[in-house]
Amino acid sequence: MAKMWAGRFSKEVDETVNAFNSSIAFDGRMYAQDIRGSIAHATMLAKCGIISQEDCDKILSGLKNICADIESGALELDPTAEDIHMFVEAELTKRIGDAGKRLHTSRSRNDQVAVDVRLTLRDEIKEIETLTVSLVKTLIRLAEDHTRTIMPGYTHLQRAQPVTLAHHLMAYVWMLLRDIDRLRDTAKRMNYCPLGACALAGTTYPIDRKMTASLLDFDAPVPNSLDAVSDRDFCVELANTISLIMVHLSRFSEEVILWCSWEFKFIELDDAYATGSSIMPQKKNPDVTELIRGKTGRVIGDLTTLLTMLKGIPLAYNKDMQEDKEAIFDAIDQVKLCLRTFDPMIATMRVNKENMRAAAAKGFINATDCADYLVKKGLPFRDAYKITGTLVARCISEGQTLETLPLDAYREACDAFAEDVYEAISLETCLSGRISEGGPSPDAVAQQIALAKDALKGFLA
Ligand code: ARG
Repeated sequence: MAKMWAGRFSKEVDETVNAFNSSIAFDGRMYAQDIRGSIAHATMLAKCGIISQEDCDKILSGLKNICADIESGALELDPTAEDIHMFVEAELTKRIGDAGKRLHTSRSRNDQVAVDVRLTLRDEIKEIETLTVSLVKTLIRLAEDHTRTIMPGYTHLQRAQPVTLAHHLMAYVWMLLRDIDRLRDTAKRMNYCPLGACALAGTTYPIDRKMTASLLDFDAPVPNSLDAVSDRDFCVELANTISLIMVHLSRFSEEVILWCSWEFKFIELDDAYATGSSIMPQKKNPDVTELIRGKTGRVIGDLTTLLTMLKGIPLAYNKDMQEDKEAIFDAIDQVKLCLRTFDPMIATMRVNKENMRAAAAKGFINATDCADYLVKKGLPFRDAYKITGTLVARCISEGQTLETLPLDAYREACDAFAEDVYEAISLETCLSGRISEGGPSPDAVAQQIALAKDALKGFLA
């Protein structure tokens, strides 16, 4: 295809350079947003008397037809075109003649690409929000069924204190709710329109930037024309938000991987969400979660790509910035894939309550409660802590647990112990006693479930 900028050149661009330079392979996905932006721009040009209404009508119907034809498959993107902006404009001129050549008046690909990317990310953010909300709902539903499913809570991956599966799941709910909040915040800050910045220094035409901004549902024009075409901070912010979603999914995935191992067996994945081995007939592998953990590294790489791409380029547009799209689109595509797979995998997994309870019964996760028992009998916490430590050591050497250790042994360590210690250290007591706000007692968890449901109102379903 002949270049639109061919006037200044005496030769055609080298084929290798053309292929190297071309971005249509990855910016073609923005065709609808490109066309939407052009429709707003042409409408504004006509309203301001910069092009005639007749030309504008031709442009609008031509653009709408092109959009419909791309959607139906009647028009295929030309892989040798420089980018989606050039492709659409050339196709328009092919279809409507001279009027098509007027579309680019008072516009540059620099403000055009900036508007296209913002429109695209805005749409994608809504999709990611919907998928994240769906996962949050799945987790809340599961939590509601497991407010009394006792499991060990861990620190350093060592059994620490009793929690419930509901309490554990709700921790992720809050992380994801903050992620949704960050998505919205990112969308809010990027919702300013770069159109009218043109190449970098605005224009001498009497354009109306507020009009294009409002036609495209932006809050206002970007106030500075150099900034409008130069920054991709909104890509970085979104990649950062997505990276955090991925990091949350990745930590959760790591737990799912542990929980399905024979060492834990806290859960079993549905057969539809696990895979087998080509050689070991017994294997049922949690590939989905491992892939999420792996893809998290890749998305963090996308974020790094964007930051590094920006850090050394002078104002205003530089071709380096074409690299923004592959990075941010990859982050978007990966997080959507992961959310779409993780959600039904969690919804269909089977919980092995007995194994969770059995694990909670070992590992002395009631040791803190044993020390607290002595504190309630009047001992200072540090003394109570030490006495309990000696009891734990004795249990370990005698193959006992705090539940099975005879009262004599307790009283040998401290005469404040009485028969009621067994009740005080039972897992059910330890759990139901943790009534502090945000804690694992069934009542406290029910309260945070209600809070989370409240926070969900107003988010996209
Ligand atoms: N394909 C380019 C990009 O994605 C569009 C902007 C090109 N602008 C230019 N002055 N060469 O960044």
